[in-house]
Amino acid sequence: MARTMTLILGIETSCDETAAAVVADGRIVHSNVVASQVELHRRYGGVFPEMASRQHVLSILPVIKEALTEADVGWDDLAAVAVTHGPGLAGSLLVGVNAAKGLAWGRGLPLIGINHIEAHIYGNWLVDAPPPEFPLMCLVVSGGHTELILMTGHGQYRRLGGTLDDAAGEAFDKVGRLLGLSYPGGPAIQEAARAGTPTSFKLPRAWLPGSYDFSFSGLKTAVLRIVQKYQPQANGGPVSKPRAISSQTPPVIRVVPVANLAASFQAAVVEVLVEKTCQAAEEFGAKMVLLAGGVAANEHLRAELSQRSPVPVRYPPLDFCTDNAAMVASTGFFRFQAGERAGWELDVVPSLRLIGGIGT
Ligand code: KG4
Ligand code: ZN
Repeated sequence: MARTMTLILGIETSCDETAAAVVADGRIVHSNVVASQVELHRRYGGVFPEMASRQHVLSILPVIKEALTEADVGWDDLAAVAVTHGPGLAGSLLVGVNAAKGLAWGRGLPLIGINHIEAHIYGNWLVDAPPPEFPLMCLVVSGGHTELILMTGHGQYRRLGGTLDDAAGEAFDKVGRLLGLSYPGGPAIQEAARAGTPTSFKLPRAWLPGSYDFSFSGLKTAVLRIVQKYQPQANGGPVSKPRAISSQTPPVIRVVPVANLAASFQAAVVEVLVEKTCQAAEEFGAKMVLLAGGVAANEHLRAELSQRSPVPVRYPPLDFCTDNAAMVASTGFFRFQAGERAGWELDVVPSLRLIGGIGT
């Protein structure tokens, strides 16, 4: 007799995407609905927290409803509700957590609180391939995080290092703004870099020898200094368009070589990420490297890591790299199987860390 699959509803509102998804047995995505606020925040050049939480309030119930409809399941078919409760923006997290609590309570379903960083890692269980084999070396690179994590089993983590300042995605976003590219900077830099030469600017790499930590603020400042050489008045804002040349006013602004700078910056970030991840994979005898988080969408990072890693590399399909709720539902399944349940006092933890094992 065929075994019934365990369906989990995942809910994600930690930053600027309102998302809900239904996933079976932690691996088969029945629906994955994401209401992105990217257009809303673009005019501010970054996420505006107050606007993000207000938009989550408007979107959360329609998004959940759509996820259930798309999956063609009712509340009675679900085994549990899994929701991101940290890390992230407090006001944004609150919307998802309260919706999940209310719905789980009302429908008599268990509730599971999920760590957003862990959920990014589980995006790799949504790949149509045999499940990853432990131990795994996980590089989580997103707008808010850069973490190198050794995963020895489901829910078993050892954090080896992380960023000391800007997260990798944050560096992409800030440098994107410096170069006058649209928000978010990551995809825009990747696009601009296609026309550039990665060796055209010699940019610093913070190797931080003897540690698995990262630092990207020096690199960001180096890009700013170069932009200022072209445009002395630049102060970190977007680059100006060159002024029309007239005989009275000599041109004071030179065109910033955006493509070459974008390519050189991308190469610098990727080189450090790849080198440290490969070193760690070797040192800890990882069987596979998992790439996760929004920056895992970066083509250059995927290609370099796949080429240089001593063990096979896996990364989620693009839709499961950036914030989504399928990864939350997947994590929820493995935690549900391990017997984990959250109490109704589950609260948001904006600076939640990923440590220890299930139940710690
Ligand atoms: O995981 P995510 O959606 O949200 C957070 O949890 O932060 O990651 C968003 C980040 C942004 O900083 C964005 O610029 C970056 O992921 N990103 C990329 C690419 N696509 C998204 N960075 C580099 N290359 C990309 N193709
Ligand atoms: Zn994320």
